[in-house]
Amino acid sequence: MTAQIIDGKAFAATVRAKVADHVARLQADHGLTPGLAVVLVGEDPASQVYVRSKGKQTKEAGMLSVEHKLSPDTSEEDLLKLIADLNADPSIHGILVQLPLPDHLDSDLVINAIDPAKDVDGFHISNVGLLGTGQKSMVPCTPLGCLMLLRDHLGSLSGLNAVVVGRSNIVGKPMAQLLLGDSCTVTVAHSRTKNLQDVVRAADIVVAAVGRPEMVTGDWIGEGATVIDVGINRIEGEGGKTKLVGDVDFESASKVAGAITPVPGGVGPMTIACLLANTITACCRANGLPEPEGLTA
Ligand code: GUN
Repeated sequence: MTAQIIDGKAFAATVRAKVADHVARLQADHGLTPGLAVVLVGEDPASQVYVRSKGKQTKEAGMLSVEHKLSPDTSEEDLLKLIADLNADPSIHGILVQLPLPDHLDSDLVINAIDPAKDVDGFHISNVGLLGTGQKSMVPCTPLGCLMLLRDHLGSLSGLNAVVVGRSNIVGKPMAQLLLGDSCTVTVAHSRTKNLQDVVRAADIVVAAVGRPEMVTGDWIGEGATVIDVGINRIEGEGGKTKLVGDVDFESASKVAGAITPVPGGVGPMTIACLLANTITACCRANGLPEPEGLTA
């Protein structure tokens, strides 16, 4: 069997087009421009790339993009003051503080200072609790993107056996909640899970988010399973060149799976598309307007 490739790049483009269309309607009908503020503390090169990309795509969708680049030695007090100002700013509907933060800053404290209604990352403890209890919340972008790809590919997920490999707050845990919400039978596995390969092999849906390059190989995958690879790992390839690989060994897994996301071009592009989707959702909620269809969980 050769797996169908789930084209996240193409799907993300359709999400961005829907967002741009909705932004144009919000402007025409209500004079509203959704605004996203991204806060970057320090000079981590990978974070700088992500933040630049977020700003560019936000503007391309017709939204207001505001970037706050702060020095690596910014005090917690100054960062909390900026967040309070953004919370109070009516032109800003979404606030994202890029993680990781420098060690001297308490990430939990900072994230929980964001107004939950503007928490487009869905990391605030209130949003985590709302998602866990099946209430309306802001949903973390990467798991939301995975859910959209799964629904698009499989239709109903009801009753399917889903295994999430990885238990991070950013991906693994919220992914499990979303799959439960779609009536999957969910197992959260991780690097310490006993008989991990057997657990994964029993899955109809595998979401790999462990952060270990090519850990999940074809012999771990059940025949015909749908495989979503969240990993983005830079490794040394042939001739000393670096290359991007996922947490799944694509070559062997794609011989067994029914469908699989590639890296790059799978889940990656969905994350920022879902950030834009969350920003428009936050803007609609803040103004008592109906939410865009197909852009929320
Ligand atoms: N760093 C890596 N992924 C993310 C994300 O989804 N949101 C934020 N804020 N920081 C990140």
